[in-house]
Amino acid sequence: MYRISIISSSVRAGRKSHLVALYLKSYIEEKGLADTDIIDLNSYKFPLFEERLAFQKEPPKGAVEFAERIKSSDGVIIVTPEYNGGYPASLKNVIDLLYKEWYHKPVAISTVSEGNFGGSQVITSLQFTLWKMKALTVPALLPFPQVSESFDENGVPVNREAIEKRTSVFINELLWLIEAAIKMK
Ligand SMILES: Cc1cc2nc3c(=O)[nH]c(=O)nc-3n(C[C@H](O)[C@H](O)[C@H](O)COP(=O)(O)O)c2cc1C
Repeated sequence: MYRISIISSSVRAGRKSHLVALYLKSYIEEKGLADTDIIDLNSYKFPLFEERLAFQKEPPKGAVEFAERIKSSDGVIIVTPEYNGGYPASLKNVIDLLYKEWYHKPVAISTVSEGNFGGSQVITSLQFTLWKMKALTVPALLPFPQVSESFDENGVPVNREAIEKRTSVFINELLWLIEAAIKMK
């Protein structure tokens, strides 16, 4: 069974995009597609980046464990909100912390917003950064507009059928890339 980690990026008080992380975890597990693990950046509360983990003598609490969780995952889903057209500092903070852990790592991005466009403006900047890290990014998109109206407080989708249809295409692309990456190792 593949291992997929889902990074929940928002550390904002009253955050909503975490509902999408909860939803994706149950979707993948209910369908028996992979073992999943939510890497919740809000629970790490990492300090602002000072240096890459590999060069730190005294890494922040949880940083080594975080790196290990990324390294041991077959694939990663990043759930990110859009803040002023970009992705949150909390996410850049942990992308920059690692280096070799991102190398050839299959990564899929799901964007979230309260507006109509589902945070899709994040894609270019985040894809570019992950390309620089030599991660293998999945081209499929999974934007979630109007997040608070689309999920209940446990991350159960209001319109399950429509959302699951889109999710299925996205996850299949990630699984394809995971399989390809494992074959090429
Ligand atoms: C600082 C900030 C900037 C935002 N900028 C955008 C934006 O550029 N586009 C957008 O669609 N929504 C924007 N929003 C609204 C977010 O889509 C909405 O707050 C969403 O719930 C954010 O995810 P979170 O609750 O998980 O933090 C912004 C929200 C914040 C707090």
